[in-house]
Amino acid sequence: MSYQTGVGQRTAVVTGAAAPRGIGYATARRYAREGWAVALLDIDQNGIAASNQRLRDESDVPSIGLAVDVTDPDSIKRAVAEIAEAGLPPVGAVANIAGLASPVPFLDVDLALWQKVLDVNLTGTFLMCQAFLPQMIDNRYGRIVNMSSVSAQQGGGVFSKTPYSAAKAGILGLTRSLAREMAEHGITVNAVSPGVVATDIRAGATDEENEARLAAAVPLKRQATVDDIAALFVWLSSEDSSYITGGTHNINGGSYIA
Ligand SMILES: NC(=O)c1ccc[n+]([C@@H]2O[C@H](COP(=O)([O-])OP(=O)(O)OC[C@H]3O[C@@H](n4cnc5c(N)ncnc54)[C@H](O)[C@@H]3O)[C@@H](O)[C@H]2O)c1
Repeated sequence: MSYQTGVGQRTAVVTGAAAPRGIGYATARRYAREGWAVALLDIDQNGIAASNQRLRDESDVPSIGLAVDVTDPDSIKRAVAEIAEAGLPPVGAVANIAGLASPVPFLDVDLALWQKVLDVNLTGTFLMCQAFLPQMIDNRYGRIVNMSSVSAQQGGGVFSKTPYSAAKAGILGLTRSLAREMAEHGITVNAVSPGVVATDIRAGATDEENEARLAAAVPLKRQATVDDIAALFVWLSSEDSSYITGGTHNINGGSYIA
């Protein structure tokens, strides 16, 4: 596809974009399909280079792949500078998708695990928002889309327990409060809350039979695809969603109806 004007004048920054079957890469690909330039970020250095190459093979929008640890403010600061130096258009959207789940039962959760899960999911989201918002404020366009989970709303998930639920619930609070603060700048802040999505996040903790059982328990009788989730992230970054902010956008096939 060709590099469009309009949204094509903006860059979408997507974290957690290295996993080949993950939501992050699918979202990066969807932004590209809609004409956005894309910055793909992930802690997995080889994986993110491969993702960027894959995106370039599939589309002709400008893109960059950067090894970034979202828990490290210096690493994020370097990414802000590298995106600007690469000559990409101004950042118009940040999709905070990097995450880490934990199936460990509560009494076995030590402080290090608690801290790690909160750091990647919640603190990473905070740091990314703080690093990229100044240019969005200057440009008077910004869309922040944060990844939560049904685990935050229903009291845990199949493989995700307390630290993960706490972190993802924290993301809902951060999203609501930041939405109110950023409204005067015309910037929207929303959270996406999926149910079960077919990715490798449960790798090692599940098998085919279990995955089929998870799908059967969903009223719509399937797990979400990564493209289901990607489409919502990109729509919440568009001009069309300009009056929607502070929301928790459930996308779970009816498994949690609030
Ligand atoms: N798969 C599901 O069922 C599901 C459901 C609800 C929410 N989510 C959320 O969606 C997001 C993506 O999940 P997925 O299933 O694609 O997972 P995934 O494990 O396939 O991808 C997560 C990515 O985050 C990256 N990452 C981890 N720590 C990082 C760090 N410190 N800095 C930068 N990147 C880091 C990983 O390298 C990986 O590429 C996560 O936030 C997850 O919690 C997933």
